[in-house]
Amino acid sequence: MKILILQASPRANGNTAWMAEEYKNAAEAAGHEVTLVNVSHKKIAGCLACEYCHGKGAGACIQKDDMQELYPLMAGAEVLVLAAPIYYFTLNAQIQAPIQRMYSVNKPAKVRKMALMMSSYSPGVYTGATAEYHDICRYWGVEDSGIVTAKIDEQKTDATKARIQALVNNL
Ligand SMILES: Cc1cc2nc3c(=O)[nH]c(=O)nc-3n(C[C@H](O)[C@H](O)[C@H](O)COP(=O)(O)O)c2cc1C
Repeated sequence: MKILILQASPRANGNTAWMAEEYKNAAEAAGHEVTLVNVSHKKIAGCLACEYCHGKGAGACIQKDDMQELYPLMAGAEVLVLAAPIYYFTLNAQIQAPIQRMYSVNKPAKVRKMALMMSSYSPGVYTGATAEYHDICRYWGVEDSGIVTAKIDEQKTDATKARIQALVNNL
């Protein structure tokens, strides 16, 4: 399957980047085609709510920023994996922007399954992000293939690597 991973941590050697790489390696080993994008390195602004996309734009966003590179990748993906750190009890802004900019097309055309990987320092900080993710899966009509979280003592461990492998096995 064609898998798109959006990795949203600005820390190149951080835990989210590690999780995204582990997912990519496991998915490629299973024969999937994987594209990994670090959205934290992209200039992707928030939605302007100008409604150009739902009028004259006919599905195109008026903002010509790096989201324009992501639209075709989102359109072609069959599996969408979100990998993000928790900032202030929710998914960080770097992952929220590309999700919310999908407003122009409403939903990614071919995505059938999603997965979510989250990093945090503390335990018990995933409630809001998990609810948001499940709502998006429902709204887009896609199957949740699983969630992996890693708080500080679970980061870059064999146990977390095994849970990421299980996510890939769920596809
Ligand atoms: C702005 C900011 C806000 C954060 N807020 C939280 C938080 O609410 N709860 C928590 O457990 N960790 C929080 N953290 C810690 C990160 O979630 C944690 O260090 C995570 O592993 C970072 O992922 P990374 O290694 O991929 O960058 C915060 C970090 C930053 C920079």
